[in-house]
Amino acid sequence: MAYETLIVEIEDYTCLIRLNRPEALNALNSRLMGELAAAMTAADQNDKIRCIVITGSDKAFAAGADVKEMATRSFSDVFFDNLFGAEAEAIQRVRKPVVAAVAGYCLGGGCELAMMCDFIIAADTAKFGQPEINLGIVAGMGGTQRLTRFVGKSKSMDMHLTGRFMDAAEAERCGLVSRVFPAKSLIEETLKIAGKIAEKSMLTAMVVKEAVNRAQETTLAEGLLFERRMFHATFSTEDQKEGMAAFLEKRQPQFRDR
Ligand code: HXC
Repeated sequence: MAYETLIVEIEDYTCLIRLNRPEALNALNSRLMGELAAAMTAADQNDKIRCIVITGSDKAFAAGADVKEMATRSFSDVFFDNLFGAEAEAIQRVRKPVVAAVAGYCLGGGCELAMMCDFIIAADTAKFGQPEINLGIVAGMGGTQRLTRFVGKSKSMDMHLTGRFMDAAEAERCGLVSRVFPAKSLIEETLKIAGKIAEKSMLTAMVVKEAVNRAQETTLAEGLLFERRMFHATFSTEDQKEGMAAFLEKRQPQFRDR
């Protein structure tokens, strides 16, 4: 499928989605968000794809929601339109692993989009921020909630109240990103990581994703019980038998997602 604001490539088992509005530093407009939700839903439903990577350009992952598109809107416009609400829900419904590969500006809705992914790999050029306060608005796609869960209240308040940008080293230190690579090798390294994930049992990977996400959604006791029951459930799979047999036979497992 051809998109106007995305470049979608399937390499081996990975679907690489590049945000592509270079004239606006990949600012998220309605077209881009609609296409992104559609592309991710399609990748989730495509049996050949085992991992999704979202990236931008060297200059920007995304510099936020498109200010030109929002500037003249009223409360009732954005309330009834529920600006990006449906698209964000579609992105969060994706059950396969999703990795964000971030270089350059990753601001506002861009940072919120990266945080909707399962984890973030950054280039050493990445700059994260929630500068909405400078526009007289508050984050609207999860920034105040997700950034606070990633980095804690103090740094989240600092980011949202001052609108300052955080570099890749600080983002790694505070747990916003999992790894940092030189910008020139960001995509290559992220595709290697996606390739590693693609080798696993997709069934188990999806269970892992659900279990880790529970940690953000529920109490410790509920999350521990969910994890324990999912641990028990994995013993009903062929992939558990194969994984453990392969270990004992000192060979690579051949998972079948069953
Ligand atoms: C629309 C944008 C944009 C944005 C950049 N551009 N960010 N257009 N919306 N969010 C456009 C500029 O207007 C300009 O177009 C071109 O991209 C290059 O940007 P410059 O500003 O000239 O580049 P530079 O001087 O390098 O500065 C880069 C920047 C700055 C620091 C990233 O562009 C910036 O501060 N952008 C806005 C960041 C922001 O406030 N994001 C939060 C948005 S609110 P022209 O045509 O002039 O050349 C948000 C809410 C989400 O995200 C809630 C969703 C529900």
